[in-house]
Amino acid sequence: MELIALPGEMRAASRRARAGGRRIGLVPTMGYLHDGHLSLVRRARELADFVVVSIFVNPTQFGPGEDLDRYPRDLDRDQDLCLAAGVDAVFVPESASIYPDGADTFVVPGAVAEPLCGASRPGHFRGVATVVTQLFHIVEPDVAVFGQKDYQQLQVIRRMVRDLHLAVEIVGEPTVREPDGLALSSRNAYLSPEERGRALALSQALDEASARVAAGEDRAAEVARRARRLLEEAGVRVDYAEVRHPETLEPVDRVSPRAVLALAGFVGNTRLIDNRVLVVPGAGGQRENTR
Ligand code: PAF
Repeated sequence: MELIALPGEMRAASRRARAGGRRIGLVPTMGYLHDGHLSLVRRARELADFVVVSIFVNPTQFGPGEDLDRYPRDLDRDQDLCLAAGVDAVFVPESASIYPDGADTFVVPGAVAEPLCGASRPGHFRGVATVVTQLFHIVEPDVAVFGQKDYQQLQVIRRMVRDLHLAVEIVGEPTVREPDGLALSSRNAYLSPEERGRALALSQALDEASARVAAGEDRAAEVARRARRLLEEAGVRVDYAEVRHPETLEPVDRVSPRAVLALAGFVGNTRLIDNRVLVVPGAGGQRENTR
């Protein structure tokens, strides 16, 4: 496994692999890897012959007062996990090589980046779209794999790839959960045992919503209201609990045929997100993100 820090060296390694007839897969991460990331790596290995994991805590997607400085990092452990997972190259750039002195050019996504996390974290998706575009230009992947846990991020990236004619296939992988339902997240490391118990309310609210929709509830506002109440009752400070169109993330009146229930809330000081695509039985919506 190669460990590469410089963008030019990363691009050269990708080009060598391509010249050797290999298909290139990229899994962009901010490190502190868990089984959710490793499921993305497994998928990338199915889809490509040369798998690159990027590890970069991207400063431009953090707002003032957010957790950039204390975001968990463990590069040695991440490297061991990548090696064991059969990764071909780990790209670990310094901030200064991604954002050269005076860097002042950004990729600004449109309406799909405005609601939900885009409203709570102004500039967040501009930072994500910019760094992901940079990674695409450095690694030149044929396919890039992202987790559906960051559902809005996945829609922003799909839209960006479409709008900018980027030559990369985007694959979304289902959220990996602990046995009790908690979605895996690097930020779970911040939770005390008591907070971790409260955090279960997110996946429980999604389960409840799925059950209600399966039983015939089709009113988006009602599904969202119930989810918000469950979170509040569990002591989660709700950022948003909304039912939205599964691709555009525009508001919808009805769940039918399918819609995404997107949740974000603070457990103590830790902001967690989770989501589920709700499918009305028999309404012809495609199932996604149900794991
Ligand atoms: O999902 C993440 O970990 C980050 O937002 C990403 C896609 C690696 C960009 O920094």
